[in-house]
Amino acid sequence: MKLSTKHLLGIKDLSKEDINLILSTAEQFKEVLQRPVKKVPSLRDITIVNLFYENSTRTRMSFELAEKRLSADVLNFAASSSSAAKGETLLDTVNNILSMKVDMVVMRHSASGAPHFLAKHIPAAIVNAGDGINEHPTQALLDAFSMKEKLGRIEGLKVAIIGDIMHSRVALSNLYLLKKMGAEVLVVGPPTLIPTYIGEALGVRVTYNLQEALKWCDVANVLRIQLERQNQPLFSSLREYNLAYGIKRSNLDSLGKEIVIMHPGPINRGVELDSDVADGKSSIILNQVENGVAVRMAVLYLLAGRDDNQ
Ligand code: CP
Repeated sequence: MKLSTKHLLGIKDLSKEDINLILSTAEQFKEVLQRPVKKVPSLRDITIVNLFYENSTRTRMSFELAEKRLSADVLNFAASSSSAAKGETLLDTVNNILSMKVDMVVMRHSASGAPHFLAKHIPAAIVNAGDGINEHPTQALLDAFSMKEKLGRIEGLKVAIIGDIMHSRVALSNLYLLKKMGAEVLVVGPPTLIPTYIGEALGVRVTYNLQEALKWCDVANVLRIQLERQNQPLFSSLREYNLAYGIKRSNLDSLGKEIVIMHPGPINRGVELDSDVADGKSSIILNQVENGVAVRMAVLYLLAGRDDNQ
């Protein structure tokens, strides 16, 4: 089976069949990653550049590891140490890199739509590793993989997405994916961090009451407060945010049931999540990071059009 798209620009463009294909392929790669030799030759003829115009720990390292596990040749580009810092344009940068016979571009950029722009101008396949406040498709795929691994299904799950919805590409990609896969979704946070259009446009429920959301959900996907994207204060202080929307042990103890705690990272400890919740038994945060490698292997493998077995 093949993906219906040449690029992975966003979950918005994927069909349910595409998502299922990526998740089932990732299951096979997760098995590969349990072996003593965690490497397959599938992409040994492919060269991939990781083009990062914005900081990253998990996504950049996870893509690099996924590429190396697939035996691809890998180039890493960080804008801050490149000629982009001297004013070279995105398109000039990419065309110069592609002239060195590079086949695929993994790209993170602070401008929403940057990978979509690039896709119109270059022949190589592009994977969006996060564009501004638009989408972070591989994060949503690894989140879905992790929910399915933990709870056995996505369809019918009740998922609360909590916090800074307004500035979160993780929220938007998760919303698209969860709706396509038949989960129920509730978004929760302060009114100033939830776009007013979101309920009607995306068919999700909205609440401003954290405890109501926690009582309802099977999974709490907690988002980072993105102060760097806020050009004016949208809540009074981090301390008050933590009091109203930060998840503490006491929030979970009073539920009378177990819920799964997720977070894409990096965590603002003591703001959106207290440490004993982030590191507690309900948390699958490090499983999400682990699963990211298998999911990204699946995305790269399928975009390269491979249909051999590992
Ligand atoms: N989840 C995520 O995108 O983390 P990084 O910014 O560290 O890549």
